[in-house]
Amino acid sequence: MSNYANEINKRRTFAIISHPDAGKTTLTEKFLLYGGAINLAGSVKGKATARHAVSDWMEIEKQRGISVTSSVLQFNYDGYCINILDTPGHQDFSEDTYRTLMAADSAVMVIDASKGVEAQTRKLFKVCVMRHIPIFTFINKMDRDANDTFELLDDIEKELGIATCPVNWPIGSGKGFKGVYDREKKSVFTFSDTEKGTKEGETQEVSIQDEAHLRELLGDEAAEKLLDEVDLLDGASAEFDLEAVQAGELTPVFFGSALTNFGVEIFLQHFLQMTTTPLPRKADKGLIDPVENEFSAFVFKIQANMNKAHRDRIAFMRICSGRFDANMEVRHVQGNKVMRLSQPQQIMADERKILDEAYAGDIIGVFDPGIFSIGDTICMPKEKFCYEGIPTFAPEHFARVRQVDTMKRKQFVKGIEQIAQEGAIQIFQEFNTGLEEIIVGVVGVLQFDVLKYRLENEYNVEIRLENLPYEHIRWVENKEEIDLTKIVGTSDMKKVKDMKGNPLLLFVNSWSVGMTLDRNKGLILSEFGRNN
Ligand code: G4P
Repeated sequence: MSNYANEINKRRTFAIISHPDAGKTTLTEKFLLYGGAINLAGSVKGKATARHAVSDWMEIEKQRGISVTSSVLQFNYDGYCINILDTPGHQDFSEDTYRTLMAADSAVMVIDASKGVEAQTRKLFKVCVMRHIPIFTFINKMDRDANDTFELLDDIEKELGIATCPVNWPIGSGKGFKGVYDREKKSVFTFSDTEKGTKEGETQEVSIQDEAHLRELLGDEAAEKLLDEVDLLDGASAEFDLEAVQAGELTPVFFGSALTNFGVEIFLQHFLQMTTTPLPRKADKGLIDPVENEFSAFVFKIQANMNKAHRDRIAFMRICSGRFDANMEVRHVQGNKVMRLSQPQQIMADERKILDEAYAGDIIGVFDPGIFSIGDTICMPKEKFCYEGIPTFAPEHFARVRQVDTMKRKQFVKGIEQIAQEGAIQIFQEFNTGLEEIIVGVVGVLQFDVLKYRLENEYNVEIRLENLPYEHIRWVENKEEIDLTKIVGTSDMKKVKDMKGNPLLLFVNSWSVGMTLDRNKGLILSEFGRNN
């Protein structure tokens, strides 16, 4: 066992997923508060300043017309070293949001208690399921009127197809929110609003056996309702099973209010105990163990234009095994080159710090002179293995791209290919033609603006985008067995190919996808493309 095993084993690397406005940013801030990474306590102004810093950075990026950073926040808490991968949300939603999940070992799903499961959570959840990583649910905003608790759980089970196991249980909501019942401790923790003060609240802990005290604290009605619900719950809900949690089949559910900082530390403590240390990863030579193996990493995101000169790119890597030392030589497998990584840094929301060392579980950003691609493997010079590629995620918006000045063909093709290589957009061609007609697919519409802006500013090429009605894209999984020319689709279906020549089908609606599958026996379609 390596002498840095302790460093690796104390790491917990997770992503937070949610629909915009569910409270992801607020919850992250409260986590950081416990870790002492930023000092938000004491004044509302402190909070506003911290929020401001993050959004300012994003604003600058937006003005420059580049994709929004998924930042990584690292902090220490209770002997753990925690890496939070923030996934950009709102209209900035892009393929990077999905890719970030490929670098995480577990996910925290934040749900607004008055809304239940929403569209963006559903999409991100699918990626977590594909990876079988543990998913933890924090049902937020209990200080506001919430949906019925049983209905909320039912919604998660039905909408997402994952079993739920409440770890605690809310007592009322909105103005009547009284606290939570901890099922393991069999105690009630009363609600206290610690937003405006220190992190120590005035929460009281009362055993559920102590009915008189419970009635006194909660009132008769709430106490009786709780006792009934606890009975019901113990009879009806799934048993807690750590193995099922770690396999991503059961999600532990917590209730709280990030804004008032209630239930956040309880969540953090349980979560850290239940979640996993850095997971082994699949490579072509087998599973790579984070502790037993020397340094290795893979690139999951490339961010262009961190500086104005457009060749300045940062490649984000997830360290999968061993210890990284800034002075050591490593091999970039796909480029077949041994090198030192240039300016390795930890990218926080609004600052970057040059690193001397990092461990499996950590994320580092390195200066990229244009050599890395998404999914590339970096390992020790004596090694030469490749991590399983990162899938290509299905774009949901499509447009035909035309250049205004046809004389600039070369710059146009170069620009669009480079931007596609960074993974900000995907490009497709008509099945039987060359690059004269390019179709661009994106996960979030903001990427269309990014493309237009960057082609104009970096490649001096003006383009027109003509929106296409397609909303669904499917890769032909078994392309070796299927004769593409013979696929009988619906009238709205379009056959295209990606940069690597893989065949795909575009559809206007999901009904056509089903219809095409019915009409072509043996055809296998996939929502995720292979990237290697
Ligand atoms: P996001 O990152 O998931 O998009 O959500 P964010 O944390 O920014 O929260 C969205 C809004 O919801 C914010 O209000 C935030 O204060 C509020 N919020 C978050 N958690 C809770 C909670 O537990 N209870 C209540 N009542 N509200 C919560 P805003 O008015 O949009 O922003 P701000 O002006 O307060 O910063």
